[in-house]
This record gives sequence, C-alpha cells and structure tokens, in this order.
Amino acid sequence: MTLQLDDTAPDFEADTTDGTLKFHEWMSDDWAVLFSHPADFTPVCTTELGEVARLKPEFDKRGVKVIGLSVDPLEDHRSWAGDIAETQGHALNFPLIADPDREIADLYGMIHPQADDTLTVRSVFVIGSDKKVKLTLTYPASTGRNFEEILRVIDSLQLTADHSVATPVNWQHGEDVIIVPSLSDEEAREKFPKGWETVKPYLRVTPQPQD
Ligand code: BEZ
Repeated sequence: MTLQLDDTAPDFEADTTDGTLKFHEWMSDDWAVLFSHPADFTPVCTTELGEVARLKPEFDKRGVKVIGLSVDPLEDHRSWAGDIAETQGHALNFPLIADPDREIADLYGMIHPQADDTLTVRSVFVIGSDKKVKLTLTYPASTGRNFEEILRVIDSLQLTADHSVATPVNWQHGEDVIIVPSLSDEEAREKFPKGWETVKPYLRVTPQPQD
C-alpha cells in the first residue's frame, strides 16, 4: 500500500555505512529525511549524494537527520563513497542503507515496477519527530533532485506545525506567511499581535512568526 501523508513511517532495522540501526530509535526525537537513489556508481546519484553531504549542516540546524538507501550491497556503498568525496568535494557524512533484499524499498514503495522492476526510484520521505510522514516526493532516475527545495519544504513544515499559518507559493524562510482560513479574525488578533493585511477575507498576510 502506498504510504500517505500522516501515516506512521514504518520502522525497520537496516545495515548502513554507519553500522546496523533501528530506524525509529536512530531518529530519536529528531525529524528525518529518508531518500532512495537508483544505484551506486551512477552519475546523477553521485552528484546527489555529494550535495546532501554539502547540505548536512543545514539539515542539522533544523534538527533533521538524513539517511539514503539503495538496493546495492554495503561493500559497494563503501567503495563508491570514495568517488563521491573525490568528484563532489564532500565526503559522505550520513548513513547509506544497503537494502539488497529490497525489504525496506518494498515497505516504503520505493520500487515502481513500470519504471524499473529492480532499482529504487528517487523517493523522498520527510518524517516528523512524531514519526508521521510529512512529505513524499518521487523523481525518476533521470532527474536529480533539488535538496535545497527539500530544506525549504522542511522550513515550511516545521513552521506550520507550530503556528496557525500556511506558506504561499515559492515562500522562503523569513518571508510573509498566510493566516490559515480556519482562524477567525478575533482568534488571529491574539495569535498575530503584529497584525495582518487582508487581501481577501480568505487571504490574510502576516510577517513570519518567530519562535
Ligand atoms: C544516475 O544516477 O545517473 C542514474 C541511475 C540509474 C539510472 C539512470 C541514471
């Protein structure tokens, strides 16, 4: 069955480049990004994993752990890591799951047989500290992802989890946000002392709340 938003992210035990781990235990009280790539020693995947390593401090700042996965064995992950460091200038600094039996890939629906019946597609699951799925993305093998967009979405997910706001198109951290329509003006006055601009009764724009 396809994993949907607000489903509990399935727990699993995995062999990774950082040793064996139990997923929920490894997450502890943090958020997580679990993402799959099709195969080791492939060009687009090499660039993606280097980019995630470059952005790791940004994930750390947001309290988000990152973990990759493919159906390649651990020995391949370990020898490919050298290529990633050499060609991308950033060494792997997060665990890569080896899932040769496809158990985790199947659990998360990362194999899309019409696209490829053996390799994982480029799946992304953003999982909250409550272990619920907050975002899913699926890209084909031929298209590398934009991990800065994933950071942008995490900023929105974490903000909207704590405040009665939603974020508009192309929003970036620090920009104005929208008061959720379910909040009355009276309720909004308490929560948003800086006020808001009413563009339409259902479109009320306010500065981003600070924590
Ligand atoms: C790549 O990472 O470049 C790739 C992997 C599998 C299929 C096609 C491209």
